[in-house]
Amino acid sequence: MKKTLFVLAVIAIVIACGQQASDTSGQNASNPAQEEVMPNDGKGIGEIKNVTLNDPLHEDMVEKGKAIYEMKCAACHKLSGARVVGPSWAGLTTKREPEWIMNMITNVDVMLEKDPEARALLEECLTRMPNQNVSIGDARDILEFMYHNDQENAAE
Ligand code: HEC
Repeated sequence: MKKTLFVLAVIAIVIACGQQASDTSGQNASNPAQEEVMPNDGKGIGEIKNVTLNDPLHEDMVEKGKAIYEMKCAACHKLSGARVVGPSWAGLTTKREPEWIMNMITNVDVMLEKDPEARALLEECLTRMPNQNVSIGDARDILEFMYHNDQENAAE
């Protein structure tokens, strides 16, 4: 029963999001309504204030992040191409601050309520990304995997 509801929800979302699939620009200019919500430093709202990036990427973190992605995120997010339920992760790390991404993962309910960019996504997708109790450590591994994914996409 729960599964049927989920499938129906997914179908509804795919229809809703499909119309926006070609808009991957993510620029504020494309959505003037965002500016009215609140001042925005691009880092989102939550515990994550400063992320130190790794260059080169840490392969063990990439692997851990990938495993979590496959378990908890892949149903709604693809790594390239168009939106499914949620936006594709292609280009995500060039579009968002790393702090924003980690706050979105670990503090999604507050982000969807108060962060202008998260709210804009919610308006497009008409569904809320569920809070899956991802720890900050796991979120950091997922972030590493996202950078890896964007490097792979760029190389293609
Ligand atoms: C049930 C579907 C679903 C699952 C599972 C899910 N998400 Fe999402 N996600 C969404 C939707 C829908 C959005 C767009 C915002 C909204 O409408 O809530 C989103 C947005 C995002 C964004 C912002 C994307 C952008 O373009 O800025 C990130 C980052 C994200 N999700 C990460 C994750 C991670 C990490 C996981 C796994 C731990 C995950 N999501 C699991 C549905 C999901």
